[in-house]
Amino acid sequence: MHFLLIACLSLASLVAGATYQRTQNIVGSDFLSAFSFQAISDPTHGRVNYVNAQTAASQNLTFASGNTFVLRADSKTVLNPNGPGRNSVRLQSNQQFTTAVTIFDVTHMPQGCGTWPALWTVGNNWPNEGEIDILEGVNDQSPNQASLHTSSGCTMPGNQVQTGTSVGGNNCDAIATSDTGCGVKFNDATSYGPTFNNNGGGWFALERTNSFVKVWYWPRNGNVPSDVRSGSTSINTNNWVYTFRPACPGTPAANWPSTSCSLAQKLGPHNIIINCGDWAGSVYSTSGCPSTCEDYVNNNPSAFGNAYFQFNSLRIFQ
Ligand SMILES: *[C@@H]1O[C@H](CO)[C@@H](O)[C@H](O)[C@H]1NC(C)=O
Repeated sequence: MHFLLIACLSLASLVAGATYQRTQNIVGSDFLSAFSFQAISDPTHGRVNYVNAQTAASQNLTFASGNTFVLRADSKTVLNPNGPGRNSVRLQSNQQFTTAVTIFDVTHMPQGCGTWPALWTVGNNWPNEGEIDILEGVNDQSPNQASLHTSSGCTMPGNQVQTGTSVGGNNCDAIATSDTGCGVKFNDATSYGPTFNNNGGGWFALERTNSFVKVWYWPRNGNVPSDVRSGSTSINTNNWVYTFRPACPGTPAANWPSTSCSLAQKLGPHNIIINCGDWAGSVYSTSGCPSTCEDYVNNNPSAFGNAYFQFNSLRIFQ
């Protein structure tokens, strides 16, 4: 109890949340109208070939039915080493958002060697309008790592109130940190990969204001705020409680305050991006995965059978 008492006292420095109303409720085939397919060569040079809507539908790389939306990487084709990478899907929201709460209800995320799933938001002119990574990882690393990337002149105070652990320093400058930015590793093994999937998934939420950016996570069977679990039309982020810190309401997994970073200037309007990438080149050799990343992605299509996202919903509140 003593630990919890001390930990919660520091909440004095946590800027409070607010009440928001739902403005979008994206379920099942709504994903296909709220997002556009980006059939682009991967800007991050993964062994991936992002396809258009027609190809995705014909290869069942996207699938919508009732309350379910799935996007996946191809798991059938052995690739020509000299040809394009593995077919997959990258979706960009048609609408841009600034201050808002975004809640992803995820039942499955891509898992397996060579996968690189991400849920993130980004502006038009990277890194000048910033980037927020809500869910990101490679090669089944555990747990999740969220991050904030900006242009120069945005730092973190180093005493953020959050349940995760800051990694990579307090300078969020994407260029100066070789795109590490201000990372936060979650303190919860269920937040990523096979552990997340075996647990029935969970919810990831982003709360973006001009005073802070917070990322939240609740496992399916965790202490999920009732307004999140029920899909309420109104939410109050002040009441949100982290599963493993029930005595400290309002504490997110990751927290980037505006103390020494003008979030209003550093973050522009953002699109939401969902991608089911293949990668993992630079860290592959130390990941415990077989062969080399390229060979593995080329020659083992069936290893990508679990390389898919499945969503119950994506809800936006403003
Ligand atoms: C397409 O994918 C969905 C979701 O994984 C699956 O339920 C369905 O059986 C697949 N359809 C075909 C024709 O493979």
